[in-house]
Amino acid sequence: MIDRLTLHNFKAFQDASLPLGPLTLLTGLNSSGKSSVLQSIALLRQSYEAGDLDVSRLLPEARRAGFLGEVGNQGFLLKGELVGLGTGDDVLHEDFTEEEPLIGLGVDEGPYHYSWTVAYEAEQNLLPLRDVESPLTSEGAAAPTGPEAVTPSFLTAPFQYLHADRISPAEFYPRDHHAVMGRGFLGVRGEHTVNFLRIHASDTVPAGPLRHPGAESDQLRHQVAAWMGDLCPGVDIEAEAIKGADAVSLSYGFQGSLGATKRRRPSNVGFGLTYVLPIVVACLTARPGSLVLLENPEAHLHPMGQTRMAELAAATAAQGAQVIMETHSDHVVNGVRLAVKKGRITPGQAVFHYFRGDGTGVEVVSPQVNADGKLDQWPAGFFDEFENTLDQLIG
Ligand SMILES: Nc1ncnc2c1ncn2[C@@H]1O[C@H](COP(=O)(O)OP(=O)(O)OP(=O)(O)O)[C@@H](O)[C@H]1O
Ligand SMILES: [Mg+2]
Repeated sequence: MIDRLTLHNFKAFQDASLPLGPLTLLTGLNSSGKSSVLQSIALLRQSYEAGDLDVSRLLPEARRAGFLGEVGNQGFLLKGELVGLGTGDDVLHEDFTEEEPLIGLGVDEGPYHYSWTVAYEAEQNLLPLRDVESPLTSEGAAAPTGPEAVTPSFLTAPFQYLHADRISPAEFYPRDHHAVMGRGFLGVRGEHTVNFLRIHASDTVPAGPLRHPGAESDQLRHQVAAWMGDLCPGVDIEAEAIKGADAVSLSYGFQGSLGATKRRRPSNVGFGLTYVLPIVVACLTARPGSLVLLENPEAHLHPMGQTRMAELAAATAAQGAQVIMETHSDHVVNGVRLAVKKGRITPGQAVFHYFRGDGTGVEVVSPQVNADGKLDQWPAGFFDEFENTLDQLIG
């Protein structure tokens, strides 16, 4: 699990150090840096998957021999499947202070610290690695004790990253065997979710906090339907291959008081169900050690559904995965507080960050939750709009 993330000269952050927990909520005004935090993690992951952050190549001997300087094709890959951040010019913090600015990202995992520093190249998509710190490369560090000392686990753990802009109701979705079988990846827009559901429908959701007690069975198809049923009672979901095409389709049915309806296409059942489907599948398939990055899981959901998304995220963290999510919803924030109060997760497992940005820099305030679900501070602007409006209404 990532316990701490540090950012240097990365977009809005000149220097930031953010503690992360099993369930971290990134909140704050628009354009305040929340997505940038998720992007920084995705950037490391994207670079690693492309073979551009191979720490094992940077053994101490190689480092002493100056090998690092020759690792020309290592660095931050700014454009890829997970994020497209532009070039060095886009990513370098605008108000850098060094003569030759460097961009750095660092991660703490338990006792281990890792960091990667790249040079600024205005027009490049790959920013070349200048320095790397890991238990293996740190001079004088205790001898590494296992594979985790070579590569931080977040780079290899099962991973999902869902952008705010996700799939919407459509007649068909892609059928990509490698994404769902080889990698188990839903796609950043959740575009592989329907095919994933088709192939993994009979997988089981293990006993524990994620398993919905009201579901027909422990199979993924029934578990997804049960969690979705909390948003829209009686819903059931089916994913099917489209004959003769590299595509799959999605349909919904409803169990009402008059019996089951016929199957309906996504465009005829509203927007919210399809929009939230990747979030539900990402959470239900997360396992201990997984890393799940979510942007606005509440989008297009009614208030009770938003609270339910918080419960699902808390259950995912309780199951042992790490969930980091950006949210604009007080129902999500309150849902997580409630999960703490109900003992579903401990106060220490829920981390809240409130970002305040003014376009040139970011300040982060981190309210702490206690066992009763109470937060120790409510900075101005932190989900105080209900009270602000009420004051005016009754004033
Ligand atoms: N190179 C840069 N230097 C300084 N600031 C930057 C740079 N690139 C982007 N920014 C700033 O970083 C912020 C980016 O915010 P981000 O995309 O993380 O928004 P967000 O908090 O997720 O917003 P929303 O709630 O709308 O999704 C913006 O304020 C932008 O002006
Ligand atoms: Mg955002």
